[in-house]
Amino acid sequence: MKYPQHNPLPLPASGTHESVTATMDTVFDWEYDLERETLLSLYEKGKAATWNATDLDWSIDVDLEKMLQARFQAGSNELFNAMLKPPRTLSPDEGMKMNLNMIAWMLSQFLHGEQGALLATAKIVQQVPEEEAKFYAANQVADEARHVEVYHRYLTEKLGCSYEVNPHLQTLLDQIISDSRWDVTYLGMQIMVEGLALAAFGMVKLQLPDEPLIQDITTRIMADEARHVAFGVLSLEGLFEQMTESERREREDFIIEATHLMRDRLLMEQVYERMGFDVAQWTEWAVDTPFMTGFRQMLFSKIVPNLRRLGMLTPRVREAYEKLGILQFENLKDSTEDPEPMPPAELVALLTQLRGA
Ligand SMILES: [Fe+2]
Ligand SMILES: [Fe+2]
Repeated sequence: MKYPQHNPLPLPASGTHESVTATMDTVFDWEYDLERETLLSLYEKGKAATWNATDLDWSIDVDLEKMLQARFQAGSNELFNAMLKPPRTLSPDEGMKMNLNMIAWMLSQFLHGEQGALLATAKIVQQVPEEEAKFYAANQVADEARHVEVYHRYLTEKLGCSYEVNPHLQTLLDQIISDSRWDVTYLGMQIMVEGLALAAFGMVKLQLPDEPLIQDITTRIMADEARHVAFGVLSLEGLFEQMTESERREREDFIIEATHLMRDRLLMEQVYERMGFDVAQWTEWAVDTPFMTGFRQMLFSKIVPNLRRLGMLTPRVREAYEKLGILQFENLKDSTEDPEPMPPAELVALLTQLRGA
């Protein structure tokens, strides 16, 4: 797995390494009753579906700048300006650079989220009481290491542009890692972070249909992530209804706070800073403009039906989601009914139009 790292990842304010203290119980399961068939069959599926980063064709020449330049000179820039309504009209070169940076930013946050998933699932192996869940989580740990490897290689060997972890995402990952309750680790990682990633991966595929390497990477990772989200739903099923009112309330608080952090992480302040734009003005644009709002809302299309399935779309969560404009997804299929992670039809239409196709 040796590859040239042309551009090392920029570092966040916390520096090269960040220690997060977690107080948690590590649990042995001496019973090994291995009764949960759904988890065991997911474990078998996970092992059978393992792939290697070397299965990808790394000899593909990736030149996103050239690809986007052609697109932006052929009319995408007018569409970009018309649909996104930026604070001022962007030239074709600026539009192309902004689009390229948005893609690099998105892929970089995928990388950081993958590292979060690697650590969170290692923590689940230790914390979760049942052996079946430990087995599957261990399989997921290996998946996540591979995802980190592949995104890192794509960003540093192929793309030549990358971003440090977004502060809001970092806060959320820190919370997930430091929480002592194993179900909150699952809720934060498998349901919230991975649920959002599953919807976002579909967007990358739609934006770059003519880049075969990222298509192959994304298809493989999406198939793994669909299993990971299903693992969360199957593991947590029936759990919250057994909790006391106050325990459930704590989970509601966590869900609402995590949702706000994830929404804020999608404002892309880091991109405006890198572009030399007025960050406050552009962030305000990102908050208000209908395209950006719609794009952020659609990334919650997997999370909302999964929370419903877990019985956590409670009146308080519904109220918060109504305000955020994401309750509209409550009747979509959850990740156990519909493992095919297709982005919502409206999003497909928007992105296809934006690409000028
Ligand atoms: Fe992953
Ligand atoms: Fe995952």
